[in-house]
Amino acid sequence: MTTSKAIILAGGNGTRLYPATRAVSKQLMPVYDKPMIYYPISTMMLAGIRDILIVSTPRDLPLFRNLLGDGSQWGLNFSYIEQTAPRGLAEAFILGQPFIGGSNVAMILGDNLYHGQGLQPLLRAAAAKETGATVFAYHVANPERYGVVAYDAQGIPIDVVEKPKVPPSHWAVTGLYFYDNDVINIAHTLTPSARGELEIADINRAYLRDKKLEIVPLGRGFAWLDTGTHESLADATDFVRLVEQRQDIKIGCPEEIAFNQGLIDAERVLKIAAESGQTPYAAYLKRLVEGN
Ligand code: DAU
Repeated sequence: MTTSKAIILAGGNGTRLYPATRAVSKQLMPVYDKPMIYYPISTMMLAGIRDILIVSTPRDLPLFRNLLGDGSQWGLNFSYIEQTAPRGLAEAFILGQPFIGGSNVAMILGDNLYHGQGLQPLLRAAAAKETGATVFAYHVANPERYGVVAYDAQGIPIDVVEKPKVPPSHWAVTGLYFYDNDVINIAHTLTPSARGELEIADINRAYLRDKKLEIVPLGRGFAWLDTGTHESLADATDFVRLVEQRQDIKIGCPEEIAFNQGLIDAERVLKIAAESGQTPYAAYLKRLVEGN
């Protein structure tokens, strides 16, 4: 069964970005010209997913509803659920159980940004898998900040470790996960780690143990950015600004993806453009449907 549902995890306290996030969710802050959550939404759309559950805090969930509504403006279907405290990424599959039902499910972190030629086929392949799990690994300079893959001498993955003090490799597990329906049962068996969280690494380890975890490397042609610190947030803005200005294309523009996928028509795009004021974003949407 192709994965047709996704969870976007957009909760957490954002304390690492205080005071910027004292009153508002990190995932609503801009990465250059659009709210951060537009990027993971776009990634899920490229995977062919339209049913999306947004998980956030009781404080922030109403703001996400305000911004995103029911999703019909982009031909999508959004639902919302509160996470009352940041009890870990893996809790999403417990909270999301009624949404997931008997389906396979993808999850993406609301602060992760993916970009690169050939991303869509990789996402489609992961979504098309009937059983098992797919995660993506990215070579980074600072693996101790992430979940990290350990490989044996033959290059076979043997473990996934969360924020290791001595990283076993430079390959970080990125914040995008595709699972079959077993993920719900696995999530229910987890106990909180030393830092008090239900760890996504434990879910990945369970799939790895059963030889059902595919780890797809994202090579040089891809950008994977997260926005957990002021530096990485500024880097993400710089990256998007540079690429958008140089190429006159947008990264993470849900209207563009929806229009190209035939989920919405030109009239809808123009309506959103009209609501977007005299902005470069509105001008881009107009050019999109006028074909120049
Ligand atoms: O960005 C990729 C990394 O994301 C992975 O390599 C790690 O394996 C994974 O654990 C995660 O690490 P982070 O240090 O970035 O996790 P953090 O606690 O910052 O949470 C990631 C996002 O999820 C963040 O935007 C807040 C949100 N979140 C987090 C927790 C723990 C929630 O919505 N609920 C939660 O309970």
